[in-house]
Amino acid sequence: MAVRRAQASWRPSREARRYGIQLRRFAGPAVYRRQVSHLRIAHLTDLHVGRITPFEVQRTAVETTNAEKPDLVVISGDFVCHSQLYLDQLTEVIRMFQVPVVTVLGNHDYWSGADEVRRALERGGAEVLRNRNTIITLGHQRLQLVGLDDAYTGHARREEAVKGLRKDIPILGISHIAEEADGLWRHGVPLVLSGHTHGGQVTLARLHELAVGIVAGHKYVHGLYGSRRHGPEDQPTGAVYVGAGIGAAVVPLRLGERGKREVTIFEMGCAPGDFVEHHAEQEPMKGRKPTPETIERRAAAVLRKRLRREKRLLGR
Ligand SMILES: [Fe+2]
Repeated sequence: MAVRRAQASWRPSREARRYGIQLRRFAGPAVYRRQVSHLRIAHLTDLHVGRITPFEVQRTAVETTNAEKPDLVVISGDFVCHSQLYLDQLTEVIRMFQVPVVTVLGNHDYWSGADEVRRALERGGAEVLRNRNTIITLGHQRLQLVGLDDAYTGHARREEAVKGLRKDIPILGISHIAEEADGLWRHGVPLVLSGHTHGGQVTLARLHELAVGIVAGHKYVHGLYGSRRHGPEDQPTGAVYVGAGIGAAVVPLRLGERGKREVTIFEMGCAPGDFVEHHAEQEPMKGRKPTPETIERRAAAVLRKRLRREKRLLGR
């Protein structure tokens, strides 16, 4: 089968090897088999365009993606680090993709200026979903994309995002924070693509599960969780994929196979078991919901950073 051959034949370019970019391939949810003949969706996350991640890394991630000839690119937030200094570079990165790009925002985008990041993405040709859904046509197939705004900073509005979703067109969810998938599954979204954790970046001796799972309280740390084997009629089950991301906002160090930079390909229309995958669905960690105080503190941080930015602008 073509997909099996493609999986076996992926050879990282010299640049992909140099920058430690992995390509992982997975089948889509089983329900898609009835709904689409074949769609190849590339997922990237946490580009963090800026000083910490060299532009060549971003370029190589885009080239690795383009070489797979996907039908669509989905990017699940955190496009910048802590400022608006690299928005032109971000626009340039988005323009390099050769197919439509659909995105949601992450916490770093809110910290740096959500509207400015959105405009930079749109200048590059990307569609930004902020608590809404859309239908796109890829070749002769239609796909519904439902995008949640960033839950970490308190901007996710699930009921708004799923309003008007149709049952007769396949649905794909995007959320920077993976734990939001649980709620989306209840609305018939069989697969959600996420980011935020960077896979822990250091995954030796399962350090990522300690840091991201136990200390930070995430149920979903890296990779595939849930089940792709149920249809909407069997909801609320579904699957979520947490990508390890491309960039970093603070420390660029990545150690261990799971923590490497990652482009993930989903072969929609193939079912689990059709070809060898990087790993099987995993058991979630216990997880811990943020307390009301934490939620308040995170929302206040966005406001504080915005005021600081405005003050700086006025002082110029
Ligand atoms: Fe991030």
